[in-house]
Amino acid sequence: MALWGGRFSQAADQRFKQFNDSLRFDYRLAEQDIIGSVAWSKALVTVNVLSSEEQQQLETALNALLADVRANPQQILQSDAEDIHSWVESKLIEKVGALGKKLHTGRSRNDQVATDLKLWCKEQVALLLEATRELQSALVATAEANQDAVMPGYTHLQRAQPVTFAHWCLAYVEMLARDESRLQDTLKRLDVSPLGCGALAGTAYEIDRQQLAGWLGFASATRNSLDTVSDRDHVLELLSDASIGMVHLSRFAEDMIFFNTGEAGFIELSDKVTSGSSLMPQKKNPDALELIRGKCGRVQGALTGMMMTLKGLPLAYNKDMQEDKEGLFDALDTWLDCLHMSALVLDGLQVKRPRCQEAAEQGYANSTELADYLVAKGVPFREAHHIVGEVVVEAIRQGSALEALSLTQFKQFSSVIEEDVYPILSLQSCLDKRNARGGVAPQQVALAIDEAKQRLK
Ligand code: ARG
Repeated sequence: MALWGGRFSQAADQRFKQFNDSLRFDYRLAEQDIIGSVAWSKALVTVNVLSSEEQQQLETALNALLADVRANPQQILQSDAEDIHSWVESKLIEKVGALGKKLHTGRSRNDQVATDLKLWCKEQVALLLEATRELQSALVATAEANQDAVMPGYTHLQRAQPVTFAHWCLAYVEMLARDESRLQDTLKRLDVSPLGCGALAGTAYEIDRQQLAGWLGFASATRNSLDTVSDRDHVLELLSDASIGMVHLSRFAEDMIFFNTGEAGFIELSDKVTSGSSLMPQKKNPDALELIRGKCGRVQGALTGMMMTLKGLPLAYNKDMQEDKEGLFDALDTWLDCLHMSALVLDGLQVKRPRCQEAAEQGYANSTELADYLVAKGVPFREAHHIVGEVVVEAIRQGSALEALSLTQFKQFSSVIEEDVYPILSLQSCLDKRNARGGVAPQQVALAIDEAKQRLK
């Protein structure tokens, strides 16, 4: 039975009912709705709407329903209730009879749905934080195992300067650490209870909302009822956290897809996260990574969609706001899946060091070193840059690496170049020199690994 029959003499059109009902997606808020209802029943005792015995009876029935729902959430979908709030109330009435009809005193579905959704968001944030940290740990472990795997670093997707696979891993650790802190920040604003704001103007029962918030595990209660029932900032914030997080994962995926190409050949992905072609027997495709990259799109879409839904909504609650759930559920599920999947990709990943090293040695990635060498010998940097440019052109003409040029050849470009240039041009020296904080020098990378481990334990 609908929650609002009295005012109506005609039944809703079946097509409208289908259009309007939200149970098929908001059934996911069942646990939160029940937990919120238990707290509300306790609040009703404080204002003498319920006796302690009645409250006990309601709480027992609600807890039994909670156990039911936990065991089999899908059962909810069998019902033709309008939404999860109607479903819980009707189940409660089934269990305790008329007493169940008292529960909604002083409460509206508007403060109820806002409360349920915030409780749900808080749980998701906890899962996302955990997954974000797990992926960071997986990246740190991969970094630790690949501290001496030298590979080319790129700008413009052109080989630029040598880096290590470890340093590359740690770059993503930093992005994920920011994702983690963004979630924590979102949590602060999210952790404020809407319950007791009624439909829009506040509840007519003098309930201690701070105490009620505490019962539900919220840090505090909201300050303005009009704002409370129409605020979905936390949905926008979580969607933007997810959007940024997914951009990071998409870039991670893209890098790995490139590393995995026949052309680069820097890594081999495990069979656990790749799939074959129905036609081409030789294929081993990086599907997990491509899906991570691809799913980034729908998450950005959910954010844009919700921004548009909220834009221009008058105060306070409007049914438009029911559109907050599907996009949010999908986006956070997707983000969580992709975090897990990214960690799985790292598990069993093989870094092909000889090939990485070979690529790092090609492409004149040590040109900056030669310029710095000239600077150390007193040549102004701009001039040194020009000289090295000419050396590179000559080396390309000969099809050789810089370090393969003879001293006589070097001297044609600058008389200050001596035998001591050769050790400077080695890959190891390129790495060792970048020993300022955040650089690729093995010492800095080891430090960064230690710091990350400390933070993640
Ligand atoms: N299903 C609704 C939603 O998700 C619940 C709140 C309905 N409130 C109302 N006044 N119709 O927003």
